[in-house]
Amino acid sequence: MKFLVINGPNINMLGLREPDIYGRKTYADLLEFIRASAAAVGVEVELFQSNSEGAIVDIIQWAYNRADGIVINPAAYTHTSVAILDALKAVALPAVEVHISDVGSREDFRKLSYAGKACVKTIAGKGFEGYKEAIEFLKDHIS
Ligand code: DQA
Repeated sequence: MKFLVINGPNINMLGLREPDIYGRKTYADLLEFIRASAAAVGVEVELFQSNSEGAIVDIIQWAYNRADGIVINPAAYTHTSVAILDALKAVALPAVEVHISDVGSREDFRKLSYAGKACVKTIAGKGFEGYKEAIEFLKDHIS
């Protein structure tokens, strides 16, 4: 079983960006954590990060017939991108939305998620653990 794990804009700045919200661990730490979480349950992962909306649409389309599921943290595009929502609907792969922070308890504009409308589950506010939970949930959901 193979999952595509997508991280959107500014997730590459983890460790530096707003550490009171996102913590002090880096994006490299996150990749290591995701790889270990996937390996522990026998899942293969393809890891992708981009600051560009179109590149995220392209990688979602790439996943069609190549991945069994998608874990996505669309970051700021969560709250703006109909293009990412449409791409998720187009490939129709089971997808789980992850947010490091608790978007529900932050500014009002973070409460709306377009991508989430095409996801079978949303996990928010659990830090890196959310990605692990998403991988495990997706694996069970597909099996
Ligand atoms: C985020 C939450 C978004 O609102 C924000 O724009 C991000 C990160 C999170 O992981 O908590 O960049 O997706």
